[in-house]
Amino acid sequence: MGLNLSGKSFLTLLDFSPEEINYLLDLARDFKNLKRCGTPHRWLEGKNVVLLFEKTSTRTRCAFEVGAMDLGMGVTYLDPGSSQMGKKESIEDTARVLGRMYDGIEYRGFEQEVVEDLAANAGVPVWNGLTAQFHPTQALADIMTMREEFGPDLKGRKLAFFGQVGNTAASLLVICAKLGIDFVQVGPQSDAPGNRTYKPELLEACQAMAARNGSTITITDSIEEGIKGVDAVYTDVWVGMGQPAELWRDRIALLEPYRVTEEVMAQANPGAIFLHCLPSFHDTNTTIGAEIAEQFGVTEMEVEDVVFESDASRVFQQAENRMHTIKAVMYATLK
Ligand code: CP
Repeated sequence: MGLNLSGKSFLTLLDFSPEEINYLLDLARDFKNLKRCGTPHRWLEGKNVVLLFEKTSTRTRCAFEVGAMDLGMGVTYLDPGSSQMGKKESIEDTARVLGRMYDGIEYRGFEQEVVEDLAANAGVPVWNGLTAQFHPTQALADIMTMREEFGPDLKGRKLAFFGQVGNTAASLLVICAKLGIDFVQVGPQSDAPGNRTYKPELLEACQAMAARNGSTITITDSIEEGIKGVDAVYTDVWVGMGQPAELWRDRIALLEPYRVTEEVMAQANPGAIFLHCLPSFHDTNTTIGAEIAEQFGVTEMEVEDVVFESDASRVFQQAENRMHTIKAVMYATLK
């Protein structure tokens, strides 16, 4: 049975029930099938959306643009330098202007409060395309990828996030707790200098949800403990968007033991997959990757190239699934 999410903003997965999340995932699966079959689905013709990006993007921007165009909608993209928002016009006033012109607003930027403020004032659905705290559309695509591998009911499956806690890890923590997937955070000891941890109130809320949904949350600095029984091994870059490059030295020292290697993958469950939200520093074929290699002698960062390119890697399937899941979110909230 379809659920009604019409008019609702998509700011954090905390606002959605397991049934609503599964509804969005089912919808994304259906959109993927329609796209594969070349069946037109311009079901939102006449509507328009605006994409506000205060940070750079490849996947999220393209997923929103192609998703909106597939649904028959008009799209406006505003890059970090080309709107008045925040500089000459408050978030509240920007929301009230854009809400009168557009049917939906996507925001990628800094604090979660900004996207919450937009949603409180726009009068139309607002979608979180990444804030410092959460990356909910990413987590939807990640779980869609796990469903494609392991089937629609992921209860009892286990995902391990290797490395530094950040917005992607936080959204994975939430979605796993909601859907009864065991979640493991494998990284430095919580009191290690420079290490980030989950906000206590978020962790507590997720632990309560996980208990209700029959799953567990484990936080460990032991790879041996963390990798046991894992079906999906996930990692992310060690320095996030908008963070200063000076952090690299300390982050490498802190996180190098938690690189996803062939040896790590070999300890996971047979058939385990490798996931990454991308972009990834798995080689030196990027400007930053080359600079890091020159400065620190490190040629692979959060994941070994051999794992990234292995048969277990689902990273490009994940990237494609950004589009299908984002399309599902737009359709469900605008129809
Ligand atoms: N994973 C992700 O959000 O990618 P982009 O930064 O390219 O949008």
